[in-house]
Amino acid sequence: MMHPSLLATTQWVTLSTLLSIAIAADNYFSSSSPIFLNCGASAMQLDSNNRSWDGDTSSTFAPSVKGLAARASYQDPSLPSLVPYMTSRIFISNYTYSFPVIPGRMFVRLHFYPVAYGNYASRDAYFGVTTNNLTLLDNFNASQTALAAKYAYILREFSLNVTSGSLDLTFFPSTQNGSYAFVNGIEIVPTPDIFTTLSPIPPTNGNPDPSDIDSMISFQTMYRLNVGGMTISPQGDSMFYRSWENDSPYIYGSAFGVTFSKDSNVTITYPSTMPNYIAPADVYGTARSMGPIAQINLHYSLTWILPVDAGFYYLLRFHFCEIEYPITKVNQRSFFIYINNQTVQEQMDVIVWSGGIGITTYTDYVIVTVGSGQMDLWVALHPDLSSGPEYYDAILNGLEVFKLQDIGKKSLAGLNPPLPPQPKSDVNPKGVSGGGKSKGAVPASIRGAMGSTATMLIACFSVCIICRLKKVAKHSFMTDKKCMTYRTEFYHSPSNLCRNFTFDEIQVATRNFDESLLLGRGGFGDVYRGEIDNNGENVAIKRSNPLSVQGVHEFQTEIELLSKLRYCHLVSLIGYCKEKNEMILVYEYMAQGTLREHLYNSNKPSLPWKQRLKICIGAARGLHYLHMGANQTIIHRDVKTANILLDDKWVAKVSDFGLSKANPDIDSTHVSTVVKGTFGYLDPEYYRRKQLTQKSDVYSFGVVLFEILCARPAVNIELPEEQASLRDWALSCQKKGMLGKIIDPHLHGEISPPCLRMFADCAKQCVADRSIDRPLMSDVLWSLEAALKLQENAENNKKFSEATTSSKRTPDLITIMGTDKPSTYSTMSITGQKIIFSDMMHPQGR
Ligand SMILES: *[C@@H]1O[C@H](CO)[C@@H](O)[C@H](O)[C@H]1NC(C)=O
Ligand SMILES: *[C@@H]1O[C@H](CO)[C@@H](O)[C@H](O)[C@H]1NC(C)=O
Ligand SMILES: *[C@@H]1O[C@H](CO)[C@@H](O)[C@H](O)[C@H]1NC(C)=O
Ligand SMILES: *[C@@H]1O[C@H](CO)[C@@H](O)[C@H](O)[C@H]1NC(C)=O
Ligand SMILES: *[C@@H]1O[C@H](CO)[C@@H](O)[C@H](O)[C@H]1NC(C)=O
Ligand SMILES: *[C@@H]1O[C@H](CO)[C@@H](O)[C@H](O)[C@H]1NC(C)=O
Ligand SMILES: *[C@@H]1O[C@H](CO)[C@@H](O)[C@H](O)[C@H]1NC(C)=O
Ligand SMILES: *[C@@H]1O[C@H](CO)[C@@H](O)[C@H](O)[C@H]1NC(C)=O
Ligand SMILES: *[C@@H]1O[C@H](CO)[C@@H](O)[C@H](O)[C@H]1NC(C)=O
Ligand SMILES: *[C@@H]1O[C@H](CO)[C@@H](O)[C@H](O)[C@H]1NC(C)=O
Repeated sequence: MMHPSLLATTQWVTLSTLLSIAIAADNYFSSSSPIFLNCGASAMQLDSNNRSWDGDTSSTFAPSVKGLAARASYQDPSLPSLVPYMTSRIFISNYTYSFPVIPGRMFVRLHFYPVAYGNYASRDAYFGVTTNNLTLLDNFNASQTALAAKYAYILREFSLNVTSGSLDLTFFPSTQNGSYAFVNGIEIVPTPDIFTTLSPIPPTNGNPDPSDIDSMISFQTMYRLNVGGMTISPQGDSMFYRSWENDSPYIYGSAFGVTFSKDSNVTITYPSTMPNYIAPADVYGTARSMGPIAQINLHYSLTWILPVDAGFYYLLRFHFCEIEYPITKVNQRSFFIYINNQTVQEQMDVIVWSGGIGITTYTDYVIVTVGSGQMDLWVALHPDLSSGPEYYDAILNGLEVFKLQDIGKKSLAGLNPPLPPQPKSDVNPKGVSGGGKSKGAVPASIRGAMGSTATMLIACFSVCIICRLKKVAKHSFMTDKKCMTYRTEFYHSPSNLCRNFTFDEIQVATRNFDESLLLGRGGFGDVYRGEIDNNGENVAIKRSNPLSVQGVHEFQTEIELLSKLRYCHLVSLIGYCKEKNEMILVYEYMAQGTLREHLYNSNKPSLPWKQRLKICIGAARGLHYLHMGANQTIIHRDVKTANILLDDKWVAKVSDFGLSKANPDIDSTHVSTVVKGTFGYLDPEYYRRKQLTQKSDVYSFGVVLFEILCARPAVNIELPEEQASLRDWALSCQKKGMLGKIIDPHLHGEISPPCLRMFADCAKQCVADRSIDRPLMSDVLWSLEAALKLQENAENNKKFSEATTSSKRTPDLITIMGTDKPSTYSTMSITGQKIIFSDMMHPQGR
């Protein structure tokens, strides 16, 4: 198992054989309580999660605190909470906070918000932090770290075993002239021993090096990922206030696999050998697997790239739980785990280790890295066929990476991250004002709730982006990648960051609702373009129709819902105004308008196919995000091309969600007051049974896909009856193998046949009569990404481009569409797989 060649760079050992010193949670909880210290503040205050923070001026923890209490000069809209970030304590000489604690293990979290504090410029914050002989940070440049990570603030989490009755945290400015130290908040949260307890997974192959983790060792959290699921805020993991981040920003390349949540009849259960505080049930309740198609899975590895500091040991903890039928038995799914391209686990079968569906398990590996500076940690999963499993697939529910203190070194500090090569003006927080408005490559407003991720996560974030962008430079997912990277930070943006506008401000912004600024009219009301604070940035202002019967309460609920939903493929809510009986919502401005107006009935130039595909993928991501909601599933209810908007960079964003949920009757343009939706897009099953599900959105999205392909409205009653409904017409053409005939003429010869097949098949499945036959949005997303890949591979192939110029292409397309049988999905995908992975494209060879 341990390759000699590997020893030079990476060693690993399972910790499975470590002694268990499980401390009963009961004992522990009765004996100690967490400390939240809001540095620079004088009174007790609540943060946006209702945690109560002591001010350090009045607190018993800092009876004679030195240094200057200062207020931040600027409130970045992405701050997740004003407490503790808006106040800080500045030290120009050494200062030690002494916290009385009960000896034992605890999380120490340090919050930093690097902006100017009075005369103290953020660039001069250059300092170290030590505790009881261990260096946590050294020559730490807070502003550089934040700039590199493109975050407004930084949170570092450490786990220490304190043996005395006092935890001392010393802040010391660097020796460089003019340096100062600062801190905004300090959390101290006692925990049981969550690291060295015996992992329930037995060692399976060979006899791994038993390696003891000293009970005194300190850890720094690098990554804590809720794989395949949403960000979990400290509140959602209330035992230790950990936060868990969505894993997709770290996935290598475009092979995202598929994400899913537990089946509704599965209950997450912790075995008696495993304390339930190892990870919350929400982590186990979602997962990522490789995808439904064995042939594709065999040709790739589901890979995460996690940049870390070289020269340290790392503990990697993998959380597993089978959560979906039909996987309930041994040898249905078996896979390899690779770390840094080395096999650390063969025949990983979650059922073997957990004992059944819904039962949690986890396993730990320790690796050592050598050298200095930053390096990538590669974590990959790949099917292991050696036992002949039923499915060729892999699964992961959660992943944590901790940096271990090097006993000799007595330090956990890494180097400051290099700045990204982009112009710094991109990340100048002062350049952005007006709530959550986001413009430019790296909007300040999308830096946000960065959970408990620690030191090098921040540091590595940008590095990770840079190198991944390089790796995928020829890849269309580039913009998506960037977007995904910031996605999770959006999520927990609290509603207090949604700005409360006065009616006067709205009047100024819209020049008193000047008709020339009118962007559109709907049942809900009128939409105006406006400019907030005269800063040159546009917003869209939606003024509700006084006749629309929406109560103030519903309006408030809606704002709360909308302001929680922040994601780069959803149109974000910037603020609202509810003065003088007005109910006004202020949204981000979408420069290119609706997708619909780029498809037909306008004189805009026709969009190329690849761009249309990317728009589909963006919109699918937006809907997937809504459906995947951390707490509640949100059903859009009114998916249509008019509700897919395009920003100045042609990024697709879904709009008008939530509105529809809160108010079934609000949009009078819709055919039914009971059943909400738009004629032509409406799920027949929903219509019949009045039962709304996510699959209703999938149906509507299928219609959107056909609309994009055919560039005609979902319903056109001027056409002959059999053609009036796009969905019916497209399905009947597809059945006859004549879909090629109704494709937007602008696209003829542009779409590679395998791509078209993948796309049309996906659309067809979406609009299936019965919701049970329709795919989930995650599957749709997967198909669309595969379709894009097929298209790109085709375009990279000269033969295809020569072929497209030949007039013989059109009949060919039709023939291919004609091979449409209900069961072609996997067959087709096997074909697809060859193209995806060999990069050889011979459309005429088939
Ligand atoms: C915080 O507490 C207040 C009042 O107790 C409550 O209205 C509010 O919803 C709570 N907020 C959160 C995020 O729990
Ligand atoms: C401040 O603390 C650092 C680290 O503990 C130490 O190296 C330095 O000598 C201290 N400076 C003073 C003036 O005490
Ligand atoms: C710090 O190190 C010194 C010298 O090595 C030792 O005497 C002292 O007890 C240590 N303090 C703590 C809190 O471990
Ligand atoms: C900290 O980083 C900022 C941004 O890179 C830089 O301008 C500043 O000079 C650095 N400060 C120190 C003390 O190195
Ligand atoms: C630091 O400040 C002292 C006194 O103000 C000055 O003499 C010295 O040259 C400065 N050092 C540097 C490196 O700027
Ligand atoms: C902390 O260290 C002490 C002394 O080594 C040890 O007895 C104790 O079990 C440790 N606690 C935890 C939670 O690791
Ligand atoms: C749970 O639902 C799945 C279908 O989603 C079904 O196959 C399975 O039998 C159900 N199990 C139980 C125990 O009801
Ligand atoms: C793992 O393999 C990939 C591709 O072969 C390579 O680019 C990468 O550097 C390797 N990672 C490590 C940590 O060796
Ligand atoms: C918003 O501002 C108005 C007046 O400017 C005030 O009446 C209202 O209470 C504020 N709403 C919230 C939620 O702060
Ligand atoms: C989740 O939902 C519950 C009840 O619906 C609510 O109390 C809680 O605040 C929600 N949490 C988040 C993070 O939205």
